[in-house]
Amino acid sequence: MSIFLGIDIGTSGTKTIAINAKGELLGQATVSYPCMQPKPLWSEQDPDDWWNATVETVRRVIAQAQLKPADVKAIGLSGQMHGSVFLDKDNQVIRPAILWNDQRTALECDEIEEKVGGRKNLVKLVANPALTGFTAPKILWLRKHEPKNFERTRKVLLPKDEIRRRLTGEFATDVSDASGTLLLDVSARKWSTELLSKLDLDLDLMPQCYESPEITGKLTRESAELLGLSTDCVVVAGAGDCPAGAMGNGIVNKGALSTIIGTSSVMLMHSDDFAIEPEGRLHTICHTVPGKWLMMGVNLSGGGSMQWFRNQLCKTDHAQSEKNFYETLSTEASEIQVGSEGLIFLPYLSGERSPHNDPQARACFIGLTLAHTRAHMVRAIMEGVAYNMRETLSIIKALGVPVNQIRVSGGGSQSALWRSIQADAFGQNVCSINCDEGPAYGVALLAAVGVGAFASVEEACHATIKVVSETPCTPANATYYDRGFPIFKKLYCSLKDDFGSIAKIEDAYSNE
Ligand code: XUL
Repeated sequence: MSIFLGIDIGTSGTKTIAINAKGELLGQATVSYPCMQPKPLWSEQDPDDWWNATVETVRRVIAQAQLKPADVKAIGLSGQMHGSVFLDKDNQVIRPAILWNDQRTALECDEIEEKVGGRKNLVKLVANPALTGFTAPKILWLRKHEPKNFERTRKVLLPKDEIRRRLTGEFATDVSDASGTLLLDVSARKWSTELLSKLDLDLDLMPQCYESPEITGKLTRESAELLGLSTDCVVVAGAGDCPAGAMGNGIVNKGALSTIIGTSSVMLMHSDDFAIEPEGRLHTICHTVPGKWLMMGVNLSGGGSMQWFRNQLCKTDHAQSEKNFYETLSTEASEIQVGSEGLIFLPYLSGERSPHNDPQARACFIGLTLAHTRAHMVRAIMEGVAYNMRETLSIIKALGVPVNQIRVSGGGSQSALWRSIQADAFGQNVCSINCDEGPAYGVALLAAVGVGAFASVEEACHATIKVVSETPCTPANATYYDRGFPIFKKLYCSLKDDFGSIAKIEDAYSNE
């Protein structure tokens, strides 16, 4: 038997799946862990939590699918992008990992752009502007604020690559995840020695970089024993969760675009050629398909906005509910008319990434009246996240890239209402596929490609991933959103300076 595992080190938990050589799902398990906010807009996790969750989920999947150690031929790794694990000379984790949605590095981002002579030059070097969540500004932050920790640092790894190190003993990454460090020459698909030297960072800090389906090592005896697998089992390079999710949605052809509403909300567009959005409003990253790229727009709290609403404002109802409480909220919101009777939500609970790149932005409900209910607020959250994705979509379209098909995915898109709102806000039907395992599925397929079960990434996707249903765009609702969209865009511009002022008084107050 040839079985492949996909392990996704997510922000709310780690998910492991097992598939066979036909891509059929044999088992899946998820273990959750906390995320720490030691200060507002900071976000950290303990890599030991990822590792314990990895071991636990792999064991559960093996038991569920009744696998023998020799059945599992290869593992693919995916994970939250941009997070930084700092390791010392003995491979000990120096401090908690700083995550993708952490906003502490605004000054370091300015410093990086200054060092290369401005944003345009930086985008030329690494295809992206300096964004607070990316890895390079975090390394500079450590150098400035925790010099002793920086002195001790020998390697900086992305979350899934720390799990790879514990599995195989190798320091390795893949080009898609490395694209989110700000240190990769995304066009040449190798580390940018030019930027590293401008930032006075040693190339040795970074792991070796591979294409996503390439094999990076085998399980060590210790990890194989712990997981109940064989030392012949290989680990392929894998991918960041967004590119892995695009692959898990079968986004491997020109004209194909997908949305993923997880903790973040992401829009990803396949690109045959290397292209950048000159103002840096979109990210360009390497695809899991060797020699191809993705353009991506990210909101830092897409599904996270709904999670926050459920946890903070519906605590008791959520605790007492026997069903999935998101379903309850979605059913309530489906009674509300398009536009939530004038209520608009700006989804900036963790600041803003695409397109404005503003770490100081804050979330808001605008237009509340006595007539508004919880259900209006839920619908407004869904609409705000969809408007935000529409901003990315309109930038992609303005670049002259045709969007032939939109596939929606992630926890948020399990809501029929959120799927319809996406179709209406995008003005285009959206499709769902036969598999909702997302990034874990993408990297399980990469594992299969790595050992030759499929000839290529494209072949693996075409053989296994199929569109199974379409959610139509309702013209009357689309017309409403066409009118609402300019208002949504303008609200951020109107509030931008106020967000800055709020951040200033908060900073002054906490430093007094
Ligand atoms: C992508 C991003 C997030 C994380 C967490 O740029 O920051 O989507 O990968 O999922």
